[in-house]
Amino acid sequence: PAMSYEHILVSNPKPGVGLVTLNRPRALNALSTPLFLELNDALLKLNQDKDTGAIVITGSNKAFAAGADIKEMKDLTFSSAYTTDFIELWSSPTSQIKKPIIAAVNGYALGGGCELAMMTDIIYCSSTATFGQPEIKLGTIPGAGGSQRLTRAIGKSRAMELILTGKNFSGKEAGEWGLAARVFQEPEECLEEALKTAELIAGYSQVAVKAAKEVVNKSQDLGVRDGMEYERRVFHSLFGSKDQKIGMFYPASIPVPLLTKD
Ligand code: HXC
Repeated sequence: PAMSYEHILVSNPKPGVGLVTLNRPRALNALSTPLFLELNDALLKLNQDKDTGAIVITGSNKAFAAGADIKEMKDLTFSSAYTTDFIELWSSPTSQIKKPIIAAVNGYALGGGCELAMMTDIIYCSSTATFGQPEIKLGTIPGAGGSQRLTRAIGKSRAMELILTGKNFSGKEAGEWGLAARVFQEPEECLEEALKTAELIAGYSQVAVKAAKEVVNKSQDLGVRDGMEYERRVFHSLFGSKDQKIGMFYPASIPVPLLTKD
């Protein structure tokens, strides 16, 4: 779908792949409310677009995103933050987007920028990436999932140290600790590989891909026993899809055209 925005760019660089580039260069892609509203709008449209199978979010070589917009937050009061449910709109990428999202992180991914990366399904980064939850240095704490997602991703001791000290960590560390799935030398390679992975995923059955994302995400909320049961139910349901019939009819000739979306 044709989309034009002020703070982001949306393109279709490979078949089935929607690329969202955060584009507020002068503010290092600080995540203001107007930017986030555009991001949500673009993600929802890509999610609904039948020709899009996977989404990549990236920033610039200097910054994925340097955080929530500090200028927007500095005069905020408790009562206005509370009554307007400040940051609530940030939950849309995880609650409403069912297609896989890959973050290609180069440069700064700090505070809300790190949290945005962690809202995606797969993080790729380059050795130029700098992650961190520096909120403690501003007299506050992560507010968009950082304390929960970083802890699940890299363990309590490391997350606690990072969140309490506000110290940054490198792309290389993100890879070693399992926050990033892969680490590349150069920013261009990071984005290119993210797009390739997205294209690969977009070539598979959309029904199966949606189910796969759903069941992996359940593992974050359910115990193993309930999670296994959930997985089996969804697995059973996929015997009702056309793609499963096609996929298992031609098992030796992968890739098969699993694009019936059925
Ligand atoms: C608003 C920001 C910003 C931010 C950078 N800028 N980060 N504006 N919000 N989070 C703006 C600067 O004000 C400046 O604009 C321009 O971007 C360039 O930044 P510089 O500092 O001049 O660049 P540099 O010297 O290269 O330093 C880069 C940096 C630094 C180390 C990333 O900008 C920095 O420390 N930024 C803040 C990082 C941070 O604390 N993030 C967490 C925010 S709190 P002007 O107009 O002044 O030239 C947060 C809470 C999340 O995210 C919880 C709820 C979601």
